[in-house]
Amino acid sequence: MSNRVASPLKLNLGCGDDIKQGWLNVDYRPGEMGVRGDVVEPDEMHDLNETPWPWPDDSAERILLDNVLEHLVDPVEAMKEAIRVLAPGGRLEIVAPYPNNPSSARLDHTRQMHPVEFLKDGDWLFPELSVVDWSVSRVRVGRLLPSDRFALWVCDTFGLFGIDSWTVVLEVQR
Ligand SMILES: C[S@@+](CC[C@H](N)C(=O)[O-])C[C@H]1O[C@@H](n2cnc3c(N)ncnc32)[C@H](O)[C@@H]1O
Repeated sequence: MSNRVASPLKLNLGCGDDIKQGWLNVDYRPGEMGVRGDVVEPDEMHDLNETPWPWPDDSAERILLDNVLEHLVDPVEAMKEAIRVLAPGGRLEIVAPYPNNPSSARLDHTRQMHPVEFLKDGDWLFPELSVVDWSVSRVRVGRLLPSDRFALWVCDTFGLFGIDSWTVVLEVQR
């Protein structure tokens, strides 16, 4: 069944086998096995390390980078491309492994990323972005703690693997 993609775009970048209806699902390795065990069959192929990305300025309302940004050679450049492609009010959702999660140090990751890097409104690198929401996915000791914020503090302070991954939702304002 073909996937109808509406405008403005919703871009699921580095989609793997997480194919979302109504989104443009993009990856660069079709035919490989995704994390759910299904074959990766993107709507469009693009290597996100190649910039500029092939979508016009202000053309998207949503961009999802779910466990993808940490694979890219230049995540700052990728963030700038996402900001360019998103229309004002558009939202960028990033999900990435928490640094104390051993899988964050996989060989195919270019670096580890901490959510705090993305939780500053008007950050000097990305002044157009404001934080709409954030959360962490708690595991092990993290599940015993009363809130995401406290779990983040405990895991940061004591170097514990109590958080699997983090999510931030950012909005473009210009
Ligand atoms: C850990 S998987 C996550 C897949 C999917 N987003 C999910 O949450 O199930 C990382 C995905 O990013 C894709 N990816 C990595 N580097 C990429 C690049 N330079 N351009 C496009 N896709 C890339 C991989 O092919 C892979 O499908």
